[in-house]
Amino acid sequence: MPQHFHTAFELYPASFFDSNGDGIGDLQGAAQKLPYLRRLGVDLLWICPFCLSPGVDNGYDIADYQMVDPRFGTLDDFDALVARAKDLGIAVLMDLVVNHCSSEHEWFKRACADPCCEEAGFFYLRPGKNGQMPNNLRSNFGGSIWDPLPGHDDLYYCHFYAKEQPCLNWFNPELRARIYAMMRWWLARGVAGFRIDTIMSIGKDPSFPDYPPDLVGDGRCACGAMNDACQDTALTFLREMKAQVLSPCDAFTVGEVWGPLPPEKLKQLIGPDGVFTAIFDFSARSELTCRPGFYAYTPMPLKRWRDLTFAAAQRTPEGGLLALAVENHDSPRAVSCWLPESMRNSSGAKALAAVLMTLPGLPFIYQGQELGMTNVHFNSIAEMPDIQSAEEYRRALEHGLTPDQALSVLNRWARDHGRVPFPWSSAPQGGFTTGQPWMRLHQDYAAVNAAVQDDDPHSVLTAYRRLGQLRRRPELQTLLQYSALEPKDHQQDLEIAFFRVHGQQRLFTAANFGNAALTYQLQADAEMLFTCGTVLRRHDACALMPGSALIALLPEN
Ligand code: GLC
Ligand code: CA
Repeated sequence: MPQHFHTAFELYPASFFDSNGDGIGDLQGAAQKLPYLRRLGVDLLWICPFCLSPGVDNGYDIADYQMVDPRFGTLDDFDALVARAKDLGIAVLMDLVVNHCSSEHEWFKRACADPCCEEAGFFYLRPGKNGQMPNNLRSNFGGSIWDPLPGHDDLYYCHFYAKEQPCLNWFNPELRARIYAMMRWWLARGVAGFRIDTIMSIGKDPSFPDYPPDLVGDGRCACGAMNDACQDTALTFLREMKAQVLSPCDAFTVGEVWGPLPPEKLKQLIGPDGVFTAIFDFSARSELTCRPGFYAYTPMPLKRWRDLTFAAAQRTPEGGLLALAVENHDSPRAVSCWLPESMRNSSGAKALAAVLMTLPGLPFIYQGQELGMTNVHFNSIAEMPDIQSAEEYRRALEHGLTPDQALSVLNRWARDHGRVPFPWSSAPQGGFTTGQPWMRLHQDYAAVNAAVQDDDPHSVLTAYRRLGQLRRRPELQTLLQYSALEPKDHQQDLEIAFFRVHGQQRLFTAANFGNAALTYQLQADAEMLFTCGTVLRRHDACALMPGSALIALLPEN
């Protein structure tokens, strides 16, 4: 059995802390800030990609899987970080990006030089069909998944993301052997396991048929349709990876798997027979994003978020672990994305924290979430370096939006919101760097930062720290991570309330995101474990004011 973790944290290295003043966060910087994470109660740390990369997709395009990108430091820096983390009781997860590599990877260069060489077999190379692309799939970043192989106009290579991210051909046994060897090499360096990037994308149909065109209207179909049809193929490869690499090393894995998935499929992913230790619950996010572009997204009512999140918890197979993330490096800020407008502030952030930290599963806090960071106000598309933002801006304009409208759409949904430098203090550049940061800071950094919140008993950071401590209480561990969720009958749409039940133990969480008080029956001898905002108790009743939350342990009956 892999180790039991209490609270996980996602760290985006370019934007966490810059130790040498070049404006880019780095591994030494991350290592210096480990005590900050420890105080949050974090014992599992996922670090986003830091291997050699031309940076087309900010590190998710890897040119050398066993070399640290010089921007982030050296392998020695990484070893030191892992050692320091271990001293503090924090295990480290690498980001395993093996659906694709970078077009700068040696393998791809060799394939271009000689499409008959061994490494050419690591990619999907196909001739065109009647002078057209081999099929009609659209890449996740727009355009066809096919581009001509450089130097060979008669051959195309497949990429489900940017053209600089050629997909790896998992049907090739030598490729799989090399990936497994690389994974063992990192495990031997002391990593506890992997967050596995877009892994169901490895399920492909090598005959590359055409798919029925979708709603975008370009005659193409989103490449995810092929992955949905080929989940069993992906699972075959993943079972082999588990048997050959993960199980022997007792590695922890969390898969980036998009749903919705039926219960039979979930059992193959998590739980005793699952290929992963955990998978992220993206049920709300999948529904939000299943549109032809950001311009077509419609904000999700909190009630819908609640229903989808509860349903995911209730669908989880016995013994299966859900990784809970309300935001990450691919999303806007949770407070701005999921909460009603009047709650996009520190009260809303704390109440959301109470919910997140007591839902079934393992919470992953994304850097800045613990400060209640909101979306950035970007003044122009030039302030947004993400490759996806450029494509979404283009789509919005193509759809007839004005440049101002397109910018406001991105100000709502872009991935850049979570990628701005972490605000450590009110110092220039938020104390993130002494140089010029690679990306602008949040407009509120002077007010919303770690130093300001550090010793404020009412700050979002303090709330997260208290919740982190709560999760470490030995008698609550099984209850919090695995026990069943029972929704409470809701009085209001802007209320989230549920029980967690484990044997005789009953935990009750309630959060009020509306503008009227909520009242609950709560026995006088219930133990209040956490409150934020204004919670009034009288005899057997309790009132929760707007923007407040409570977590209570109910007496055994
Ligand atoms: C995952 C990553 C995202 C990246 C994509 C391609 O979804 O989280 O940041 O762009 O995979 O690697
Ligand atoms: Ca640096």
